[in-house]
Amino acid sequence: MRLLAAITLYVGLSAQAIAGMPGTETEEKARFLDDLLGQMTLAEKIGQLRLNCIGPGLTREQMLEEVAASALGGVFYVAGRSEARAFQDAAMRSRLKIPVFFAYDVIHGHRTAFPIGLGLASSWDVPSVSMSARIAALEASADGLDMVFSPMVDIARDPRWGRASEGWGEDAYLASRFTEAVVRSLQGPRLSEASSVMASSKHFALYGAAEGGRDFNSVDMSLSKMYQDYLPPYQAAVNAGVGAMMLSYVTINGVPATSNRWLIRDVLRSQWQFKGLTLSDFNAVADLVSHGVARTRREAAMRAIKAGVNMSMSDTAYRDELPALVKSGAVTEEEIDEAVRAVLGAKYDLGLFKDPYLRIGDASGDPAQIDDERRLHRSEARDVARKSLVLLKNQNAALPLKKTASVAVVGPLAKSRVDILGTWSSIASPAQAVSVYDGISHAIGDPKRVLYARGADISDDPAVLDYLNAPGANPPDVEVDPRTPENMLKEAVEVASQADVVVAVVGEARGMSHEGASRSSLTLPGRQSLLIQALKATGKPLVLVLMNGRPLSIGQEHDIADAVLETWYSGTEGGNAIADVLFGDYNPSGKLPITFPRSVGQIPTYYSHLNTSRPFKVSTPLAASSRYFDEDYGPLYPFGFGLSYTQFDVSELTLSSTILKPGERLRASVVVKNSGKRAGETVVQLYIRGLSASVSRPVKELKGFEKIMLQPGEERVVSFQLSEEDLKYYNAQLERVAEPGPFSVMVGLDSRDVKEQRFELLDPASDHYVFDNNPGASRMMK
Ligand code: BGC
Repeated sequence: MRLLAAITLYVGLSAQAIAGMPGTETEEKARFLDDLLGQMTLAEKIGQLRLNCIGPGLTREQMLEEVAASALGGVFYVAGRSEARAFQDAAMRSRLKIPVFFAYDVIHGHRTAFPIGLGLASSWDVPSVSMSARIAALEASADGLDMVFSPMVDIARDPRWGRASEGWGEDAYLASRFTEAVVRSLQGPRLSEASSVMASSKHFALYGAAEGGRDFNSVDMSLSKMYQDYLPPYQAAVNAGVGAMMLSYVTINGVPATSNRWLIRDVLRSQWQFKGLTLSDFNAVADLVSHGVARTRREAAMRAIKAGVNMSMSDTAYRDELPALVKSGAVTEEEIDEAVRAVLGAKYDLGLFKDPYLRIGDASGDPAQIDDERRLHRSEARDVARKSLVLLKNQNAALPLKKTASVAVVGPLAKSRVDILGTWSSIASPAQAVSVYDGISHAIGDPKRVLYARGADISDDPAVLDYLNAPGANPPDVEVDPRTPENMLKEAVEVASQADVVVAVVGEARGMSHEGASRSSLTLPGRQSLLIQALKATGKPLVLVLMNGRPLSIGQEHDIADAVLETWYSGTEGGNAIADVLFGDYNPSGKLPITFPRSVGQIPTYYSHLNTSRPFKVSTPLAASSRYFDEDYGPLYPFGFGLSYTQFDVSELTLSSTILKPGERLRASVVVKNSGKRAGETVVQLYIRGLSASVSRPVKELKGFEKIMLQPGEERVVSFQLSEEDLKYYNAQLERVAEPGPFSVMVGLDSRDVKEQRFELLDPASDHYVFDNNPGASRMMK
């Protein structure tokens, strides 16, 4: 609890308090950097621009030699104090003894895996997500790391994209709140503290908008949509003082992010005043040749450095090409200095010049065992994981289960301690993870009443299995049962028939929601749907525990199951957290941060769409309206949706006024009552819509939310303040404006079922409008 309180403080840090954090060059720092730059040779400078890992083209020994020869500025994928020490020792043997920094993909925890990004976002609980980031920083820095390649803040509206799993979902407002909190929690009160790590937010920009959800694909998007719906989380990272920004792999309106001067120099540096370090993504500088914007790697290096890419990840292009580019005058030494200054500045902010071993310490402090249990934060991980679970269906109060029941735990993911960690689970150990089977067994406490059958493999398709199991991986990520599918199914039905209730743990192998893992279908892979049908046929109550990294189209499974619990990949303590919800030790409170489409053909499906000329109306359906005639209208589960074991009632919405004057505030209030029998939390969500703007505005846009806990019978007034600022958006001229006129304000416990009122933003220059406050009416009276 004390940790949580400390973290809440970071969330509330003001912009002024961030001064002194990365990005603000104090005079002392500027003098230090000038002095150091003045002593460096061109080769040493170019070395600083390289961020490399051990890999096929670079052995550990070669890397150590490069560090000692001042030819490398940063090292990634090295985690562990003793190994980091070996590299820092090499840096201390270099001519100028410039320290290297150590970076790693710490996306949702480090040694302790927290839920994946979509899971964290499902909590709608900023302090809890902050806590997970603070713990990640503590564990990462204790492993000698200085920088983490997170938070991943790409808005994703296409669930075919496997990397949707890593981010905060589809909404810019929600994503921005998590982003700023996580950046502050990772970086701590001061970056130069041993327990702080530099956040490198990614992937700037628009990676999540890759066409068709196909990873690395192109992005073509209007500037106003970009500014409105996709760029805010990156800007939120900058405003929170993020130290570094990683560029995306994609082209943005034709120009790759890695060579995009407009993106880096105009938007990031000039408009947003970012003062930190820019990193390319893995090999992305050389990839400019594949993009067809450079004939050679030399041209690629030139374009990247000129566009403002300070550091080249997994680099050979900067190393091989920059010397000749400077010699020929194609790249100036000033351009090199600009980039080097950013790298050295990051090291300065991280406190590495004062103490290169700040996060490494000396050998006497090294843990005897790197994955010592005592290095984990299990109770915090369980707490956050419980909050990340989303109850999508609960027919006839099928859940919670009784601990006296016998439970058949079935499904290819039920015993998996690998999948539950999710991808990018850093160095969290599967051996330390709690599977769903483990969690249910702990809760029931009597092995005889926990039955198990695998039921099906995650996939029977050899090509899919080959894809998931990297050659040589030992053990393979995905295991295949040697029995026939028919035998597995038969066993599952027999096991289910012996139990009081069936819990089917189904979904995707974690590798299906990863980099490069785009899907063309969103159904349950393999024979899992058949398994669910067979389990249903036993007549036993059927609970689906979904484990997946993207919205799935599971309408059929939804219809036949009694209860559905979305668990994403919930991390080290996932199994215990899931059992807490299944048996009612925790009342679920998660809400979806991303829309579930009914079918892949409905993509894109997101809540903040435009109304169109012919919106489909459920009450008066027209043949010619904006929908698919061969699919039910609307999503399977809307954004913001999630059930509880108790019942919350929301009153009509009241406004403090039907007029909002610029400079003033308007209060929108509802009374929320827990009319059920259990204490529980829910998330009250506020949406707005501009009804008469100069461009068509989304039918709903999230502008506020509050997570509240209510005891049975308790009611609470929840109020949101709206000001002109909340009504601003980017118009066709890219001006951020609030346009006078009528607005709708909506409050609900999800984005579909809302209470609505209207008000008018007054134009100070014109007459007073009196608005007829009836959502059904469009009449305005002057
Ligand atoms: C990914 C990044 C990641 C980097 C280093 C890239 O392929 O796109 O998100 O940080 O690898 O692991």
